[in-house]
Amino acid sequence: MQILVLGSAAGGGFPQWNCNCPNCHGVRSGQLQATSRTQSSIAISSDGERWLLCNASPDIRAQLAANPELHPKRRPRDTGIAGVLLVDGQIDHVTGLLSLREGCPLDVWCTPNVHEDLSSGFPLFPMLTHWQGGLRWQPIEIDEGHLTTRFSIPSCPGLAFTAVALHSNAPPYSPRRGAPTPGDNIGLYIEEDSAGGRSLFYAPGLGRLDEELRGWLARADCVLVDGTLWDDDELQRAGVGQATGMEMGHLALAGEEGLIRELEALPETTRRILIHINNTNPILDETSSQRAELYARGIDVAYDGMRFEP
Ligand code: MLT
Ligand code: MN
Ligand code: ZN
Repeated sequence: MQILVLGSAAGGGFPQWNCNCPNCHGVRSGQLQATSRTQSSIAISSDGERWLLCNASPDIRAQLAANPELHPKRRPRDTGIAGVLLVDGQIDHVTGLLSLREGCPLDVWCTPNVHEDLSSGFPLFPMLTHWQGGLRWQPIEIDEGHLTTRFSIPSCPGLAFTAVALHSNAPPYSPRRGAPTPGDNIGLYIEEDSAGGRSLFYAPGLGRLDEELRGWLARADCVLVDGTLWDDDELQRAGVGQATGMEMGHLALAGEEGLIRELEALPETTRRILIHINNTNPILDETSSQRAELYARGIDVAYDGMRFEP
């Protein structure tokens, strides 16, 4: 399985257009040792030809241009994107579908919760029916008992997908904001079904871990997970917002119960990579003590254009 990181930043990107925090100001002025990042999206392939887009970011036009794997090659109108999967209905994860309208019809895997939000508050599904049949919903039905579901995607032969319901939050525009239900956010456990096959756990939005979820993380050869915030009250400290990480559905990295502690508990061989980094996060400064701490603990930070096999 091949992974292509199209965008490694959280909503807003890095730098964010209206943000003057030390990170955004620093990278804009060239005074900070840091790399710009577009908004959260990856692509997954089992054959190197057909790619499953996991989340469609508002920055998709630049992301497609920057990654030759996804360019049209075979026909006058073409793309390397064979389908789209959405882990939630957040604006930074779905808005790019509007920019894919010329390529409809398009298969889109998501839960009933996400499909509902994208049929009402942010009506991408009904709207795009006016472009060659629009988005063809491929439901990810979470099993109420296990809060997981296993499925396959025809364009990803040899890969088995398990969606795992996460504790996070519904998007700000959703009627379920503040009171999410299973299916508002999923993590993906993806495994190669061959003997000795490798596996990845992907979750760009992770609010709280429970024993079941810890089990999925521990099973994966590689975890690509929520690096949004260093501190839970980071937005307040930077003077750019009131919401805590907890309220937004993002578990902060630092602290006794932070994500770093959780990553420390994984098997020694697990590869650990952070994605969906918010522009306020001190780890973006490559000279920061926080970045050094990640390095010391064997935790990588995803960057746009990163390619790897779990
Ligand atoms: C989130 O991950 O919480 C959202 O992307 C934030 C946003 O886009 O406003
Ligand atoms: Mn986000
Ligand atoms: Zn900023």
